[in-house]
Amino acid sequence: MVWGRSPGGSGIFSDPGPPETGPGIAGGLFARALAPRVDRSARCSYGCPMSNQLDDNPPEQVTLRDVTPADLPALFRFQSDPEANRMAVVNPRGLDEFNAFWKTVLSDPGVVAKAVVVDGTVVGNISCFQMDGLDSVGYWIDREYWGRGIAKRSLALLLEEVAIRPLHARVAAANIGSIRVLQHCGFECVGTQTSEADDRFPACEESLFELR
Ligand SMILES: CC(C)(COP(=O)(O)OP(=O)(O)OC[C@H]1O[C@@H](n2cnc3c(N)ncnc32)[C@H](O)[C@@H]1OP(=O)(O)O)[C@@H](O)C(=O)NCCC(=O)NCCS
Repeated sequence: MVWGRSPGGSGIFSDPGPPETGPGIAGGLFARALAPRVDRSARCSYGCPMSNQLDDNPPEQVTLRDVTPADLPALFRFQSDPEANRMAVVNPRGLDEFNAFWKTVLSDPGVVAKAVVVDGTVVGNISCFQMDGLDSVGYWIDREYWGRGIAKRSLALLLEEVAIRPLHARVAAANIGSIRVLQHCGFECVGTQTSEADDRFPACEESLFELR
């Protein structure tokens, strides 16, 4: 696979989260302490917390930084999650294949590969790369953190860093969560296709998205 170019940069990009509705910073701190208890047991059909149930909680801080080899055990764990793979309609890589893949990625200065960090913990990764000659984005979040707005904030941060347009994304048509993430960040559906099965991807209906 050929990987794309981007303006690069290794800085840390931080999203303060949605604007506070409370009375400024002090209010925000108190809001964290006094946030109403929410029912975290409700789950959507994919097992993630229903995001509207978490809206009353103050946002966690989401940052992006370059992926390092020390992140790979966590990223391997996330990409091995059967439920996440069902959602994305992807076959997980075995450990050797995963390590070889990331060795290539990390040695390619043209790839933007960022770890998603929430309050100091790596919870996923997000990348810009070339696929089939198109500059493309992809992301993966630890299931423990689904439904908290982390993917859409991560993609918004990546789009601040990566100036290339248009950007593309291919997503299983049934992957509503990922489609919502793309739409939230301005991507538009420009087509659909039926992809054939290969070692990495089972056959499925795909939606093609583009950000101009
Ligand atoms: C898809 C994925 C990245 C979403 O991450 P996330 O951090 O939970 O997403 P967010 O919390 O930012 O949610 C964004 C929107 O999608 C919705 N959403 C998220 N997961 C959903 C689900 N399983 N079903 C329906 N809607 C969902 C949220 O409600 C939110 O909608 P809103 O903007 O209307 O409020 C995550 O589930 C994941 O990593 N899945 C496995 C890998 C994958 O599918 N990668 C993408 C491949 S194209």
